[in-house]
Amino acid sequence: MVAVALQASVTVGGVETAPRLLPERIEGEGLVLRRWRPSDAEALARAVAESVDHLRPWMAWVAAEPQTVEQRRELFARWEQERSEGGDSVFAILVDDRVAGGCGLHRRRGPRTLEVGYWVHPEFLRRGVATKAARLLTDAAFSVPGITCVEIHHDKANATSAHVPRRLGFRFVGESPDEREAPAELGIDCTWRMEREHWERRRAAGPRS
Ligand SMILES: CC(C)(COP(=O)(O)OP(=O)(O)OC[C@H]1O[C@@H](n2cnc3c(N)ncnc32)[C@H](O)[C@@H]1OP(=O)(O)O)[C@@H](O)C(=O)NCCC(=O)NCCS
Repeated sequence: MVAVALQASVTVGGVETAPRLLPERIEGEGLVLRRWRPSDAEALARAVAESVDHLRPWMAWVAAEPQTVEQRRELFARWEQERSEGGDSVFAILVDDRVAGGCGLHRRRGPRTLEVGYWVHPEFLRRGVATKAARLLTDAAFSVPGITCVEIHHDKANATSAHVPRRLGFRFVGESPDEREAPAELGIDCTWRMEREHWERRRAAGPRS
């Protein structure tokens, strides 16, 4: 993973401004997205253990599972440190206080772009959780000064993931060769992009489906 903290500052009119912190909590559409707390370590361990078969094909980090409670707490602390320095923000997706998945805003695509990522626990699949989380994250991304673009990336073989940006009106940008990081991947990255003006026009146009 790319180190991101230094990308957080934004140059406006030739002047380098202070880093813009990404949000740590977002709420809406029946979901709470919030940063992981030390007390979530056991709940996340359970959620990952229950999700591992459906995540393994697509999420490279599953190769490092299972992690100890201590390792997970260290990870949460690293994520929070990174966020507090202007880097990525990694969230639990909670539905009625249950861990329904995880998602994040990532700075690895350049200073004016945030990438949205997501995974969902099998018990919560096909209920719109990923779509709602991605919509909330896109709203949140465009509330960050200097962000003009939000992207979603997935491997070409991950057709399920492609539904999410398509549903939200992201524009398909194209394919490019990528590292094969998880077992089911082809090593072809698909990029979807949303520009701020387009998102604002969609929001102004009325109710979201
Ligand atoms: C991809 C993933 C996050 C989708 O989560 P989800 O909460 O079930 O998605 P949603 O309910 O918001 O559904 C989004 C769209 O995908 C469709 N969809 C979801 N699962 C599907 C499946 N197995 N087959 C076909 N379509 C599917 C839904 O019908 C919906 O389409 P629509 O809005 O056009 O009707 C989930 O399958 C997952 O966690 N996969 C493993 C991890 C992963 O691949 N993460 C993304 C890495 S890029």
